[in-house]
Amino acid sequence: MLLRATLLYLLPLTLAAAPSPITPDFTNVTVFTPPINWTSKGTSYARTVVLTHDCSNTILTTFTASPPGEAYLPVFQSNDQGKTWNELSRIYFSTQNYTGGGIWQPFLYELPEKVGKFPAGTILASGNGIPGGFSSTNIELHASTDKGKTWQFVSVVATGTAPNTTNGATPIWEPFLLYHDGELGVFYSDQRDPLHGQKLAHQQSRDLVSWGSVINDVAMSNYTLRPGMTTIAQIGEGKKARFMLSYELGMAPGLVDYAVGYRISDSPFTFDGAPDMQLVATDGTIPAAGPYTVWTPAGGPQGTIVVSDSTYAQVFTNTAGGDPKKWIKQVVGKNQGVSYTRSLTLLPDAQGKKVLFSNGGYYGLSAATVTAGQWVVPGDAVKNTKCIPGH
Ligand SMILES: *[C@@H]1O[C@H](CO)[C@@H](O)[C@H](O)[C@H]1NC(C)=O
Ligand SMILES: *[C@@H]1O[C@H](CO)[C@@H](O)[C@H](O)[C@H]1NC(C)=O
Ligand SMILES: *[C@@H]1O[C@H](CO)[C@@H](O)[C@H](O)[C@H]1NC(C)=O
Ligand SMILES: *[C@@H]1O[C@H](CO)[C@@H](O)[C@H](O)[C@H]1NC(C)=O
Ligand SMILES: *[C@@H]1O[C@H](CO)[C@@H](O)[C@H](O)[C@H]1NC(C)=O
Repeated sequence: MLLRATLLYLLPLTLAAAPSPITPDFTNVTVFTPPINWTSKGTSYARTVVLTHDCSNTILTTFTASPPGEAYLPVFQSNDQGKTWNELSRIYFSTQNYTGGGIWQPFLYELPEKVGKFPAGTILASGNGIPGGFSSTNIELHASTDKGKTWQFVSVVATGTAPNTTNGATPIWEPFLLYHDGELGVFYSDQRDPLHGQKLAHQQSRDLVSWGSVINDVAMSNYTLRPGMTTIAQIGEGKKARFMLSYELGMAPGLVDYAVGYRISDSPFTFDGAPDMQLVATDGTIPAAGPYTVWTPAGGPQGTIVVSDSTYAQVFTNTAGGDPKKWIKQVVGKNQGVSYTRSLTLLPDAQGKKVLFSNGGYYGLSAATVTAGQWVVPGDAVKNTKCIPGH
C-alpha cells in the first residue's frame, strides 16, 4: 500500500518534469525558387553550414543555379534553424569567364581554427568553375571574413580538362573542405590519373594559398571503377575521434550502380590504406549515388552516423561506430524530398537530435526548387550544451 501510494504520488511529478519530445518544426520549406523570367530554372546540389564560431548559429546555404548573366553561387541565410531564408550574397568566381558554363558542385565551410592569414570563423566557399565553352574544370577557393556578406578570391586548388564523365577524360569534380591539425584539406574526384578512370584524392594547405601534392583517398585497383563524391564526418570526439569518408561507386560490379561505400580512418588525410566497406541496411537496402554523411553525439554511447543518398527519401543510421552490419534504414516525414546529393547538417541547440536536410532538386531537372526540412535522430539526446565558440 505504501509503495502504491508513493508511486501514485511520484508519477505525475515525473511526467511533469519529463522534457517534451523533440519534433521537427518543419519538413519542407522553400529556400529558393528560380524566378519566372530565368531561362534555365534548374537548381541542384544544396550545401549548408551552421556558423558556430561566434555562437550566432546562423545557417548559410548555397546551391547550383543558372542565373542570367555572369555565373555566381547564391548564398541564402536563415536565423531560425532553417525555417525562413533570405538571400545574403553572391559569390562570383573570378579566374575565368564562367558565364554560360557555371559554378557547379559548391561547398561551404567555417574554419574552426586560424589558417594562414584567415582567422577562425572565416567562411570558405568552393565549387567547380566551368567556363562558357565547357573547356575546363576549376576548383576555386573563396573566403568571407564577415560571415558570408562579402567574398574574396583566395586560390585555385586544382584544374582539370573539360567536364566529361567518360573514363579517359581528365576533369575534376565535387570539392569538399575539412580542417584537421593545422591544415585545410580540399577533397575532390579526380579523373587525371592514368591508373584510375576516376579516384578520390585531396590536397592540403597551411595557408589556403599554396597546395601540397595530390594524395589518394580512394583509388580502386580496377581502372574502370569510379569512386566519387567525397563527404567526410568526424565520428566521436577528442582523442577517440575517427573519420568516415563516404562515396558512391560508379561502374560498380554487382546489381546496384553508384552503391554507397565508405572508409574509416584515424585521420582524414590517411584514407588511402583503409579498407572499403559497403553500406547495406539490415533490411537489404543498398543506398546509391551522391551520399552525404554527418555524425551526432546523440542516439547512444557512440553517437549516430547519418547517411543520405540520392535514391531514397529515408536516411541510413549507424550507432555502432560504422560497423557494416549495423546500418538501419530510418523512416522520414512524408514530404521530405529526395534529390541529387541531398546534404545533411547537424543543427545547434537541439540536444544533438536535429538534422537539416537540404534538397536542391534531382539531377538534370529543367526546373527545381531548393527546399529544407528537419529530421529528428532517434534515441537519447545529449545535454543541450551552450554554444562553445569554435565547437
Ligand atoms: C527578371 O525580373 C526581375 C523582377 O521583375 C527583374 O529585376 C530582372 O531584371 C528580370 N531579369 C531578366 C533576365 O529579365
Ligand atoms: C564572358 O562571356 C560572356 C558570354 O560569352 C560575354 O557576354 C561576356 O562579355 C564575357 N565577359 C567578359 C568580362 O569577358
Ligand atoms: C569524353 O571523353 C572521352 C574519353 O576521353 C572521349 O572519347 C569523348 O570524345 C569525350 N566527349 C566529348 C563530348 O568530348
Ligand atoms: C573491373 O570492373 C568492371 C566494372 O564493374 C568489370 O566489368 C571488370 O570485370 C573488372 N575488371 C577486373 C579485372 O576485375
Ligand atoms: C515540398 O514543397 C514544394 C513546394 O511547396 C513542393 O513542390 C514539393 O512537392 C514538396 N516536396 C515533397 C517531397 O513533398
